[in-house]
Amino acid sequence: VTNIGSLVTNDPVLAGSSGSSKSSKSGGSSGPLGLIPGPAAVVIDGDRVAWVGAARDAPAADARLDAGGRAMLPGFVDSHSHLLFAGDRSAEFAARMSGRPYTAGGIRTTVAATRAAGGAELDATLTRFLAEGLRQGTTTQETKSGYGLTVHDEARALEIAARHTAEVTYLGAHVVAPEFADDPAGYVALVTGAMLDACAPHARWVDVFCERGAFDGDQARAVLTAGMARGLAARVHANQLGHGPGVQLAVELGAASADHCTYLTDADVDALASAADTTVATLLPGAEFSTRARYPDARRLLDAGASVALSTDCNPGSSFTTSMPFCVAVAVRDMRMTPDEAVHAATYGGARALRRNDVGVVAPGARADLLLLDAPSHVHLAYRPGVPLTAAVWKDGVLRE
Ligand code: NIG
Ligand code: FE
Repeated sequence: VTNIGSLVTNDPVLAGSSGSSKSSKSGGSSGPLGLIPGPAAVVIDGDRVAWVGAARDAPAADARLDAGGRAMLPGFVDSHSHLLFAGDRSAEFAARMSGRPYTAGGIRTTVAATRAAGGAELDATLTRFLAEGLRQGTTTQETKSGYGLTVHDEARALEIAARHTAEVTYLGAHVVAPEFADDPAGYVALVTGAMLDACAPHARWVDVFCERGAFDGDQARAVLTAGMARGLAARVHANQLGHGPGVQLAVELGAASADHCTYLTDADVDALASAADTTVATLLPGAEFSTRARYPDARRLLDAGASVALSTDCNPGSSFTTSMPFCVAVAVRDMRMTPDEAVHAATYGGARALRRNDVGVVAPGARADLLLLDAPSHVHLAYRPGVPLTAAVWKDGVLRE
């Protein structure tokens, strides 16, 4: 692909030695992006990027596509979503917009609908959401169980998810299943026992909703350590609805990600900053948008030195969007992230939150997961909110959109 107007690589070599704060050697932009000004070119060989650089230096290739001066970036890495569900909670959303608060209790509405749905329906819904995300530039999609809450229904969701993505997360500990309302300890025993046995073969990650109304710090620790003992790596729903132990627990256990991070003490921010190489703070502005809550303070995290990712949290209750461009725009407008920081968090940040170095970058050897924008620079993702800017998407080297 030649004649690219500006190319976001997120390549730490191009961005400076640390990859996080030095100004770009290649000019055009400060910050973490590793921006190559146009005209630039990318050579794709099979499912991988073979070469990246100035168009005038590009090696010969079998076929050539003229990008017409448009901007290119790595496909978005959406490291947090809940796409295995059935049913609709638009009435709950409408009630919230006329003043009702968001609570974790709504999850049980979706649990009932999901249990009643057939596997083919869940698969078709997931397929539709993945296509929806791809059209908006998402080329890596993590997704979770958590709306089954029985051994059968959790394993079924994960088995379906694993047909579509390698980034599958076991979230049996989303809320206490209704059958265990009077016996939360019994439910934790199930989640860490028979349910884990059935789910671990289909999943890469274990997650827990550590929050008032869901699971406390001790219960969350039990869930995560049991999953880790079975070879799953940890990620945590932490500090979404209020202050709590989730972030500290995530850092202590070496989780890949602490997700939401809306209510943080100075000690939480310090912990995330000192764990920046291990635990990413994943911010999910769709949830605050759709629950009309305060946004997480991205500026405070970035200034402290934490690693930050942006993701959709797509789910039928708190954030029913598959749009990474929407999340980027909100993060820039309302979370005091620069456009460069937000685009970096939505690509490289998500890759780090999934401990992947083959996505989230445009560099030789990385997967050829690329987003070409109908715009001259990545800044337009925030500058032109709500406008579909996808010109083309490659996933594993194949032109998909
Ligand atoms: O990440 N926080 C927990 N789970 C989802 C919401 C789930 C729901 O309301 O159905 C979230 O926001
Ligand atoms: Fe979530």
